[in-house]
Amino acid sequence: MKRFRRLRKPHIRNFVQEYRLTSHDLWQPFFVLEGKGKKEDILSMPGIKRFSVDLLLKEIENYIHLGGKAGLLFGLTSHKDLLAKNSYDPKGAVPMAIKAIKKYFPNFLVITDVCLCAYTTHGHCGVVQGENIDNDKTLPILAKMAICHAQAGSDWVAPSDMMDFRVSYLRQALNNEDFKEVGILSYAVKYASAFYGPFREAAHSGASFGDRKTYQMNPANSREALKEARQDVEEGADMIMVKPALAYLDIVHRLRQELTVPIAAYNVSGEYAMVKAASQHGWLNEQEVVLESLLSMKRAGADIIISYHAKDALKWLKTHENQ
Ligand code: PBG
Repeated sequence: MKRFRRLRKPHIRNFVQEYRLTSHDLWQPFFVLEGKGKKEDILSMPGIKRFSVDLLLKEIENYIHLGGKAGLLFGLTSHKDLLAKNSYDPKGAVPMAIKAIKKYFPNFLVITDVCLCAYTTHGHCGVVQGENIDNDKTLPILAKMAICHAQAGSDWVAPSDMMDFRVSYLRQALNNEDFKEVGILSYAVKYASAFYGPFREAAHSGASFGDRKTYQMNPANSREALKEARQDVEEGADMIMVKPALAYLDIVHRLRQELTVPIAAYNVSGEYAMVKAASQHGWLNEQEVVLESLLSMKRAGADIIISYHAKDALKWLKTHENQ
């Protein structure tokens, strides 16, 4: 008997596949500028822009039209100093953005990055003493930043600084101010990765000396990921992030087996830039590569995928659904 495969009609397998991407899975990062009427390209991340709050609202409106449900906000400032004072200024870019988003789109989920690197003159994620990061001097500043975001209306805060005991410190600080309902998405498993390169241009947060290897994880370790994640859950993290995503899907999978909290995978700037660069040369089919990659994160066990491709992916998913 001759065997054949049907080529034209959608095969039944599309209806019974195990995993499927939906608009609930995808969170888009946004870079927020101070001021008005500003829209800046990011060279190493074609298609991603920094927006001042007024233009960010338009961008988010478009994103919501495509089905977008949530966004992760990163702030920039022209007022950097050694103690990252602008990071908790209620008139700073991020608190102003949160207020505006919640005013016009109250159901849009707002998650805010909590880290000092975009606010310190040296670009490190904490307070620097000599050649070291002072963990204990950093925690109260992170707490001020988290409270400032909560006061503006943020739904979740996402500490990405990697200081020790920051989750319990932030949980306590938020509870004391009566923000018990504000969730903590901890970047529990953040590797010292070369894939963050383009982000440092995007957020103007490159370190002026040294590197982040003393407070980010060694890519050669996986048991440490489990230890860090368990500790953050014990400290009160509501969701755990693994970052980057593609080169660390074994970690996503392992945490999914071991923990009960939701797991987020961060498809970081370098992963985005690689796909964009190759697609612009015609060397990859962008849409297919992106959807395949995002699906692999889901298959590995990610409940949430944070990706610069989110907006495009929603567009493509919509056309697929209508076919
Ligand atoms: C800040 C922070 C970084 C990223 C997210 N939060 C940069 C870093 O640790 O250097 C990277 C995200 C990306 O590459 O898309 N600490």
